[in-house]
This record gives sequence, structure tokens and C-alpha cells, in this order.
Amino acid sequence: MSKINEHKTFDDLPLPDTDAIVSSNARIVNRDCPDPRLKFLTDTLVRHLHDYVRETNLTTAEWISSLRRFSPRSLTLGHSRQEFILLSDVLGVSALVDALNHPKVGDSTESTVLGPFFTEDAPEVNIGGAIASEGKGSPMYVHGRVLDTSGKPIPGATIETWETDDTGHYDTQYENRGEPDCRGRLKSADDGTYAFRGVVPVAYPIPGDGPVGKLIAKLGRHNMRPAHLHLMVTAEGFEPLITSFYPSGDQYITSDAVFGVKKSLVVDLKTVKSAEEARAKGFPPSFGDEFALLERDIVLASVEESKAAREKLQKTEAAEKARQVSNI
Ligand code: BEZ
Ligand code: FE
Repeated sequence: MSKINEHKTFDDLPLPDTDAIVSSNARIVNRDCPDPRLKFLTDTLVRHLHDYVRETNLTTAEWISSLRRFSPRSLTLGHSRQEFILLSDVLGVSALVDALNHPKVGDSTESTVLGPFFTEDAPEVNIGGAIASEGKGSPMYVHGRVLDTSGKPIPGATIETWETDDTGHYDTQYENRGEPDCRGRLKSADDGTYAFRGVVPVAYPIPGDGPVGKLIAKLGRHNMRPAHLHLMVTAEGFEPLITSFYPSGDQYITSDAVFGVKKSLVVDLKTVKSAEEARAKGFPPSFGDEFALLERDIVLASVEESKAAREKLQKTEAAEKARQVSNI
């Protein structure tokens, strides 16, 4: 990949906060493709795929099951290497399905793409416990409360979290994976509090050596994701939330290879330099006396709120389509 592509960060594009921006960004990012025919074919494919998702009101469940159906072993280049899912990610289809199925409700935490690295075997950790073993990266303390949209704490919410180590690899990408690492599962306390110790996320490349990686290199795009921490939060009566927090300042925030960054998900990390604070937060002396602090409440929409927002968005999309047809 050329140096130019590695640094093409599309700073002039808005972050994909809405389904409409996801669709326009997914086409604009191919603007520097040096091969006009490939650019035309990709542009048209993106347009039709996005229209298909809108016209069918494709649900997340339908999208997942069809991609699985089309990802037989022969097309999967090993664990976490489902090229069809990756294709859907880099063409903005995954982000669009998510945007249409999980519109924002009030101040609720927005959702984003799941990615292929979630596993079911994350170890249980206590509030404030460690999800990362020693030597996996710079220490980071993450905390906040899980709340409903009226600001009431949600006790007993399940928070699953996963991230890469400081080399940009998930534990599942190591051939000799032993125990799960850089992932954990915890419950929010009675006052909604959650907290855990992880590592400062780093930017990393999505698989670049398969057909999809080769395609986006030909399109003149890089294959980087900005640094992020994944979270999946579930609680009885609430819409399951799949999201990520993106520390600010990452050079790839405006050009995420999979269109996952929304403004509201960008977080400022604080640096704390205090042995006393580090020990109080549970970091052993071997982790040093300095750590990053990520403070963020997680706001869940109820199942009903989420359904109402989804239906409202679908009506708006249908009205927009009818307007376009009548203008033809
Ligand atoms: C991830 O964030 O883990 C991811 C998302 C989409 C494609 C590859 C990786
Ligand atoms: Fe990730």
C-alpha cells in the first residue's frame, strides 16, 4: 500500500452519524481510485446494495443470517476472516443496516458495527476488575453508569467488552490463544455503576491480505480502524446495545475503513499520574503509576422506545423514496 493511501484520512467528510451520511461516505471514499472502471463498478454496487437495504428494511438478524449463509468454509480464510462480512463492512452495508435498525433515541448511547472479534467466552470480572493481563498495553480505567433515557440507573446490566492489545491484535488472532485476554463480562451495580481495567486502545488494520483487503487497496483506500473499545450492553426490557468508544485524536477517526465512528462515541481520555490513584483503582505497582481514564455513562433505550424510533425512521425513509419517485 502506498504511503499516500495510508494517510488519506478524508478530513473533509462528516462522520457517519446518520444513515444518509453512511451511504454518501461509502461512495465518496472511493473517489481517488486510480482505475475509472473499478471506481464505476464499486460506486454502482454500493448504490444498489444501499438501496436494497433501504427498500427491504433489512433487519440486523436477516443481514447476519444471510451473510453467514454466504460465508461457507471455502470462503472463510480462517477464524474471524469472513470475507463476505468484511466486504459488507468496507462497502458501508454493515454500518447502514445498523444505522437503520438502531436509530438514536433521545440521549441514548449510539450503536455501531459489531465486527468479527466478539467471543462468547469472555471471563466474568468484578466491578473494577481487570480485563487485560499484564504487558498487554498502557493501563486504562473505564467507568461510568448504565442509565435509562430518563437518567435512572439500571442495575444488573450485563456489559461485555473486548479490545486489542497494544500491537493491534485481538486474542483470537494469535494462533496459540490460551485463556481469553483483553475481554471481560461484568454486571452494573445497584446504582448503575460499571468499571473495569483495560488497556489504551490502538488503531489496527482489518485483514488486508484477502480479497477484500486487495479490493480496498485497489480503490486507493487504507484498511485501518481508529483505536476503539468494543462494548455490548444488555438488560431486561432494554434494546441490546452494541457500541464502541473511540478515543479522540486518532488519525483514522475520519476515515474508519468500516464507517463505524459517530461523533457521540468519540471520548477524551484523561491521563492520571498518581501512584495513590493507580493503587486505589486496583493497578498493581508493576503496572506503573500512570493510567488513562475513560469516563462515560451508557444510556440504554427501552425496547419500546427503540421500536418507535425505528418505525419513525422507516416512515421517513419511505416518504423520501416516494418524494424522489414523484420528482422523476
Ligand atoms: C472490529 O472493530 O473489530 C472490526 C470491525 C469490522 C471489520 C473488522 C474488524
Ligand atoms: Fe475492533
